[in-house]
Amino acid sequence: MTLGIKRIAKTFVGEVGDFDIADDHDAATIAEVRQALIEHSMLVFHGQSLTNEEHIRFSRKFGPPEIHTVSQYLLPDHPEIIALANRGENGTKPIANGGAYWHADITYKAKPPMGSVLYSLEIPPDGGDTLFCDLYAAYDALPDETKDRIADLKAVHSYHQRFLKSRAIDDGYKKDSFELSPEQLAEIPEVEHPIVRTHPESGRQTLYVNEGFVTQVVGMDEEESEALLLDLFQHSTRDEFVYRHEWQVGDVIFWDNRCTMHCATEYDTSHARRMHRTTIQGDAPY
Ligand code: SIN
Repeated sequence: MTLGIKRIAKTFVGEVGDFDIADDHDAATIAEVRQALIEHSMLVFHGQSLTNEEHIRFSRKFGPPEIHTVSQYLLPDHPEIIALANRGENGTKPIANGGAYWHADITYKAKPPMGSVLYSLEIPPDGGDTLFCDLYAAYDALPDETKDRIADLKAVHSYHQRFLKSRAIDDGYKKDSFELSPEQLAEIPEVEHPIVRTHPESGRQTLYVNEGFVTQVVGMDEEESEALLLDLFQHSTRDEFVYRHEWQVGDVIFWDNRCTMHCATEYDTSHARRMHRTTIQGDAPY
């Protein structure tokens, strides 16, 4: 089959034509979707209507599911799905502005996920868009001296510091906040990843630091590390590398966490916002 893809941002983002994610696609079709993902770094599908099982089945065709450490956010009957729902769903903890900082998903694991599949079920009338940025383009546009400077550097990624920071923000939905258990903390020790990553499928180089989870550059004093990271964060989220997605109910975005970042944006939380995300396991960055 042909996916009928239209590029909708300057350097990345493919909008897929007629494609029903709910179907049980064969290996050849999945290979085509994977190839399109590598080419465009993220794929947008409109007008989808998915059961939880169909969402999980599609995602599994690209690799085993990454189960989020914070089980409080996972659908009780489908732990492969994290509910980004500001009213909660079937007893999950509400998340109003969960990913409102630039990040790629779960980079704080030794083997961070290759991709995520986010399905929009309820959206507020205004706002609640998601921003995405192209980290290949950001890397390519760095001055040569910066490329040389960061070529062999590594950065520390940590979920715990992000959890504490996010929990401290009072967005009206955190009244019964919780602690991570010793078992959960044991799952998320700090890890180090290269600042410049080689994408394992495209072979291209990409910036691999994000303000959500990266705390410092390995072996650098705090002041120098902060200045460098700030510089890289600001550079990678410049307007020319960013695509803004205005959600419609039924949209699905499949993004590659190895070469993009994303950031949720503000909205009026008196309206419901509910999204389901599956996350697909990946490899150790090099
Ligand atoms: C995410 O950070 O995975 C979700 C972003 C969003 O809710 O817009």
